[in-house]
Amino acid sequence: MADDNKKVVIELQDVKREFLVGDETVHALRGVSFKIYEGEFVTIMGKSGSGKSTLLNQLGCLDTPTKGEYYLDGVSVRKMSKPQRAVLRNRKIGFIFQNYNLLPKTTSVENVELPLMYNTGISAKERRERAIAALQAVGLGDRLYHRSNQMSGGQMQRVAIARALVNNPAVILADEATGNLDTRTSFEILVLFQKLHAQGRTIIFVTHNPDIANYSSRNIMLRDGHVISDEYNKNIMSAAEGLSALPANTDE
Ligand SMILES: Nc1ncnc2c1ncn2[C@@H]1O[C@H](COP(=O)(O)OP(=O)(O)OP(=O)(O)O)[C@@H](O)[C@H]1O
Ligand SMILES: [Mg+2]
Repeated sequence: MADDNKKVVIELQDVKREFLVGDETVHALRGVSFKIYEGEFVTIMGKSGSGKSTLLNQLGCLDTPTKGEYYLDGVSVRKMSKPQRAVLRNRKIGFIFQNYNLLPKTTSVENVELPLMYNTGISAKERRERAIAALQAVGLGDRLYHRSNQMSGGQMQRVAIARALVNNPAVILADEATGNLDTRTSFEILVLFQKLHAQGRTIIFVTHNPDIANYSSRNIMLRDGHVISDEYNKNIMSAAEGLSALPANTDE
């Protein structure tokens, strides 16, 4: 729950993002404010055009607000240059995308090692060890040297989750992370997200699928660039139970 004794990982203060299109101004975010505390699993929902991707780009340090402040782990992102943001992003954020974004024809371990390449303080040996540990943590200890084109969608998403974890980021940002997966595989991935949440990870999951909000601890709804609701989930459903309740004949 919201608790000022807990560490604030993300703070947005009246964030606005405007785009100039011809001589018209598009108000994609119209003053968004919230704090996200360490260990929260937050879903961000809203209809098409409500501002989800624009918000995700702010949170992921891919873009900066037109107005307002964004603090990531206590650091003001607004005043940063692009290269400074890139360093911050690499150190503090693990990204998980709908289409996995793995390097094609590249092994799992090599994909997972990638975020560590930018850190010269980590030796090749340590890099490999950490990649293997991250893959084991997502249940892929037996697929270390498979290439991305030799794996299922669910396995590729697990590799992407391992890659997001390997740098021990302050926040995991997921964008429709189950959007390309069938029901059973989506549940398996949600089980993994709930496991990470139980381990104290901070997760932000952007989706237009209202079902996902049943499994998170808090849900923020956007409409037309505004936050229209921000609620804690008093009855978090178990993805593991949902998975075991699925009919057996849908097994892969
Ligand atoms: N680069 C841009 N230039 C101009 N307008 C933009 C730009 N990016 C987003 N917008 C506008 O800002 C609004 C919010 O767009 P955004 O992509 O954040 O919506 P979304 O909630 O992610 O929608 P979807 O579910 O369809 O992905 C839309 O009206 C969109 O047209
Ligand atoms: Mg979008």
